[in-house]
Amino acid sequence: MILTFLYPLLATVVLAQEWQMQSSGLASLTHYNLPTGYVGSCGCEGESSGNYPTAALNQLAFGSAYVYGPGCGRCFNLTLLDSWTSTPPFFPSSHPSVIVKITDLCPGSSPHCQATASKPNEFGYYVHFDLAYPTPAIPTGFFPSNASYYGYTDFGVWNITYTSVECIPNWAGSGNAGAMGRVPALGSSACCPGEPGGNDTCPSYSSSHVLPPNTAGGAPPRLALPYLLAMVSVCLVLLGFS
Ligand SMILES: *[C@@H]1O[C@H](CO)[C@@H](O)[C@H](O)[C@H]1NC(C)=O
Ligand SMILES: *[C@@H]1O[C@H](CO)[C@@H](O)[C@H](O)[C@H]1NC(C)=O
Ligand SMILES: *[C@@H]1O[C@H](CO)[C@@H](O)[C@H](O)[C@H]1NC(C)=O
Ligand SMILES: *[C@@H]1O[C@H](CO)[C@@H](O)[C@H](O)[C@H]1NC(C)=O
Repeated sequence: MILTFLYPLLATVVLAQEWQMQSSGLASLTHYNLPTGYVGSCGCEGESSGNYPTAALNQLAFGSAYVYGPGCGRCFNLTLLDSWTSTPPFFPSSHPSVIVKITDLCPGSSPHCQATASKPNEFGYYVHFDLAYPTPAIPTGFFPSNASYYGYTDFGVWNITYTSVECIPNWAGSGNAGAMGRVPALGSSACCPGEPGGNDTCPSYSSSHVLPPNTAGGAPPRLALPYLLAMVSVCLVLLGFS
């Protein structure tokens, strides 16, 4: 009984480890509201949020369903291509780019972030970025638009290209020690390398705690402990009754 219970978990852990994010490629992009100073899933220094460009990464590419994962702290150059949600699709004349640091998880329960190793999101992409926007670092006007023709300026979803880049010196916040690294007070529930790579890449929190990747809701760090305790109680109950 215990083994039957664990097999699906182990299988998903193995799958999650096999999928590798390409260092560059196509992806979809949306934007979300992130208060300045907010500490996201990775537990990166709050000074990074809002003051410098940051983004959340979809669960599969992030590498964990909870708290931190290998995606934390990585920097990417994102370049806008086009938006097809409008009628007609919008092909802008300019293609702005922005270099972001990943500070947050876009959980598999969120729209557009539900890709798994075997199934892309509804746009056909395995990678989705949710850009913190608008912020002091990326003021309104970053996204190209044609208000006189469409009657609105926010297309919502974009096709983009992304390229993995070194945070130092490419990310605007890399010269500010207060924006690099993790919040020390969060202890071991935070992981945000200034320059991930080599031995300084975050492990997958959900894999190392054998948490299934797609259960109810995306849990911010504060929910991780209760969830863990719930899992432990489930295991104890199973042990007690088997
Ligand atoms: C980011 O991408 C844009 C568009 O391809 C390019 O012009 C720019 O040089 C890139 N920046 C870096 C730091 O790679
Ligand atoms: C953008 O995404 C849509 C929907 O997946 C697709 O039809 C279109 O060809 C894409 N455009 C580019 C440039 O990738
Ligand atoms: C807005 O879109 C219309 C129709 O495609 C086009 O004729 C016009 O040049 C566009 N304006 C700008 C500023 O892109
Ligand atoms: C791990 O990274 C640290 C900091 O960059 C470095 O000092 C150390 O030598 C590395 N250890 C190994 C085993 O690579």
